[in-house]
Amino acid sequence: MSGGGPVRGVAGSGVGQRLFADWAGQVHVVEDRGFRLAEPLFAEEEAAIVRAVPLRRREFIAGRTAARRALAGLDIAPCPIPVAADRAPCWPGGVVGSISHSPALVLAAVAREREISALGVDAEVVARLEPEIIAAVCTEEDRRFLAGGRGRLAGIGPLLVFSAKEAFYKAFYPLHRRFLDHDAVAIRFFAAPGGETGSFRVIAREPGLRASGFADRVAGRWALAGDHVYAAAVVPGPG
Ligand SMILES: CC(C)(COP(=O)(O)OP(=O)(O)OC[C@H]1O[C@@H](n2cnc3c(N)ncnc32)[C@H](O)[C@@H]1OP(=O)(O)O)[C@@H](O)C(=O)NCCC(=O)NCCS
Repeated sequence: MSGGGPVRGVAGSGVGQRLFADWAGQVHVVEDRGFRLAEPLFAEEEAAIVRAVPLRRREFIAGRTAARRALAGLDIAPCPIPVAADRAPCWPGGVVGSISHSPALVLAAVAREREISALGVDAEVVARLEPEIIAAVCTEEDRRFLAGGRGRLAGIGPLLVFSAKEAFYKAFYPLHRRFLDHDAVAIRFFAAPGGETGSFRVIAREPGLRASGFADRVAGRWALAGDHVYAAAVVPGPG
């Protein structure tokens, strides 16, 4: 680790770090509440947001700054993280990573691909999803599973499904470079004692995805903290 100390979020509850606790020392996470991280962009990054509205600029700058601080945890000096034509971030060679923003925070997580072969992260503000969004995001199987849930997990179930699928997609996409719809997978959640954190499994329903075995290798983690839900999808071990 650079600087001799752990890489920490500049503010907030450090939920991002706890989400990846099983891979501490391998996955480096920086969480920034309030977009306080605002270091200058590299020219190729600036080009990607030249026409962006102010809020998008703020979240993009905070995301890139958080990502560079997370990369420092891997002893990688500040470098550009350009935006690919498909909008995925271009990480330095040998690195996997993921970025998420909500209107209130940004989260960046990175790891060496010799240790972690795929990584996705997502954060969402807690809100009740509209029925048509739930219908698009949750499969019949997801809805049946959630119907058996209790407590807060039941209340935020559809949002958690959404967040887990986004995290899964961000882990999947850089390796496979193809779009997956929300009905490609179903999610099974498990709550830790206390009920506000836990794990999830991803069950592939799309034939090509099922055949690849990718979803079976994903370890999912979720957390409900304050006004956000978080999800992480990790494929441990080298690719
Ligand atoms: C791309 C997508 C995952 C972004 O998620 P989001 O919740 O809307 O937004 P977030 O703030 O959490 O994430 C945005 C970040 O995702 C990253 N991202 C964008 N496209 C990506 C991709 N194809 N693969 C991996 N990461 C991607 C970027 O870093 C982006 O931030 P940046 O533009 O500042 O660099 C989402 O909009 C999407 O297109 N999903 C596809 C459908 C899907 O999720 N299906 C589920 C299948 S199981």
